[in-house]
Amino acid sequence: MRTLDDLEDVRGERVLVRVDFNVPLEPGPPARITDDARIRAALPTLRELRERGARLILAAHLGRPKDREPELSLAPAAERLGELLGTEVRLAPEVVGEAAQRLAEGLSDGEVLMLENVRYEPGETRNDPGLAEAFGRLAAVYVNDAFGAAHRAHASTEGVTHHVRQAVAGRLLEREVTVLTGILEDPRRPLVAVVGGAKVTDKIGVIDAFLRRADSILIGGAMCFPFFSVQGHSVGASLCEEAGIEPARRALAEAGQTGVTGALELPTDLVAAAQFSAEAEPQPLDGVDVPEGLMGLDVGPRTAARYAEVIAGAGTVFWNGPMGAFELEPFAAGTRAVAEAVAASGATTVVGGGDSAAALAQFGLDEDVDHVSTGGGASLELIEGTSLPGVEALS
Ligand code: 3PG
Repeated sequence: MRTLDDLEDVRGERVLVRVDFNVPLEPGPPARITDDARIRAALPTLRELRERGARLILAAHLGRPKDREPELSLAPAAERLGELLGTEVRLAPEVVGEAAQRLAEGLSDGEVLMLENVRYEPGETRNDPGLAEAFGRLAAVYVNDAFGAAHRAHASTEGVTHHVRQAVAGRLLEREVTVLTGILEDPRRPLVAVVGGAKVTDKIGVIDAFLRRADSILIGGAMCFPFFSVQGHSVGASLCEEAGIEPARRALAEAGQTGVTGALELPTDLVAAAQFSAEAEPQPLDGVDVPEGLMGLDVGPRTAARYAEVIAGAGTVFWNGPMGAFELEPFAAGTRAVAEAVAASGATTVVGGGDSAAALAQFGLDEDVDHVSTGGGASLELIEGTSLPGVEALS
């Protein structure tokens, strides 16, 4: 993968930088960014390119617009980026076209222009060659720093690379790929994977990848229930993904076959309640059979202590997915225990994006891990061993 180190002199040159500014917004007006981590994560690349005298044109998506919904404008992101960079970041009124081209051509060295939400153009997600070519007219040099979107073969992540003189990875993309592939290829052992969340089907690729490589896989969240169901436990009213049952059965069988049964660990106790609500009365269960009318909403204290102990002994920890309904305070303890153990561990600690990153932030521990990935789907696909089109295009 080519990086900023391979980039020729860019002083006075227009550089198109694809960033992932797909940030959570509280609807306005004015809309408010509730977590700017993805914008902050792009700063090293943007600062470096400005210092090298480049004229920056930023491309990003926000949400999944069907049309040009104004609430999915990148205006709040441009404003926040301007504050963080300490310079004006102008927002073009469109993605490509005469106005965007004129603004791009009017840039001086070090200035920053942001294009509107690239998904306002229907050709973006279709990887339309015409749109990719239009991106190439804006700049002859392209830097992809949008790790979170690198699993998408879209016009601004893949197509554009065929219409520029040079296409390289930014610092964030470079770091994400190095750290995440490093976990798989050369981890400090023991390698412990903590995998949680609601659905087995979202994570089965990651479980499979770790079944072949990890010393321990600790499972949590509602995705436990298909495993428990296969083992003949009652799941009560718990969220138990039907489509997850066969993958869970296969993973359990594979864990047995590869002789690592001990390595795939499931909770041994749970916290349940009658409803999914912060007001619900938490009911500790000494075991994993969930009675009729109750739903499992967190792992229990024995499981939390066991997982924390395994994490404490790890050389490398990869964590993706919460242990329970951490957004509801009575059911946050299991996820908090894992977050605290990961934060306190002397291991190389890597947290996959999405909910686990949000949980870390909620507990104020996001500064205490080595790497919090900015990618949700992208980090999972990379761990699964799927090649990412946005990364492939830079090799
Ligand atoms: C994300 O939020 O995971 C990325 O920005 C990709 O967004 P998408 O799933 O809408 O392509």
